[in-house]
Amino acid sequence: MARRKKIYEGKAKVLYEGPEPGTLVQYFKDDATAGNGAKKATIDGKGVLNNRLSEFFMTGLQGIGVPTHFIKRLNMREQLIRQVEIIPLEVIVRNYAAGSMAKRLGMEEGTQLPRPIVEFSYKNDALGDPLVPEEYVVTFGWASQQDLDDIVSIALRVNDFMSGVMHGVGIRLIDFKIEIGRIWDNDYHRLVVADEISPDSCRLWDIETGQKLDKDVFRRDLGSLTDAYTEVARRLGVLPSNVTHRPNKPTLIN
Ligand code: TMP
Repeated sequence: MARRKKIYEGKAKVLYEGPEPGTLVQYFKDDATAGNGAKKATIDGKGVLNNRLSEFFMTGLQGIGVPTHFIKRLNMREQLIRQVEIIPLEVIVRNYAAGSMAKRLGMEEGTQLPRPIVEFSYKNDALGDPLVPEEYVVTFGWASQQDLDDIVSIALRVNDFMSGVMHGVGIRLIDFKIEIGRIWDNDYHRLVVADEISPDSCRLWDIETGQKLDKDVFRRDLGSLTDAYTEVARRLGVLPSNVTHRPNKPTLIN
């Protein structure tokens, strides 16, 4: 059997040539990195959970009319996606201060912001994905003003959707990152949500306890990342059947 062609390998995913032109297969690895690759580990089951969770969020977004690159999940670790031209920006939406914003402005993590804030980092590992003003985005040609306006509107729709879904299962969406891609049709393009949406790229806090259920568990050595992601998947009803969650206490079965 011919080996399929690898198109790109990132820190958490691999992209392979898809079965038809304009498609790719996105494979979710178990690798976790933080601090731009400074901290690395392999976390058993993370890829399986993120594949399911990203499918869940992307499908839900399509259901409310937000276009995404997602076509269908193929198996435990792979999904079929549309090939897109990635805009070199990390589009970050924040509802509460945390992470780099809290540090930069000396704010207490968890402080609610007056309104959601959309910000951009330039996707460049060598530079550490620096925060950039909107003016750079257009001036350096990473996106047109029209694209930029559309990106902000997509990001806010994703935020409304994600905040609502997470709130329904007792989780506060603190912030998240998405990537946006272009799909070309002759001289025209449309923008779609690409890459992944998973606890790797969101901050998720339990509403009652404040417990972190996202990649900060790994970044800050707060316990088991698999347990945190499994809890998110369990609450959303998308726990893959062969990723078994081991509760700390025995459960009484009536
Ligand atoms: P930050 O507080 O480190 O700037 O991150 C804001 C949010 O964006 C947080 O949910 C993590 C996510 N994010 C990524 O997923 N990848 C990245 O490269 C960056 C900079 C942030």
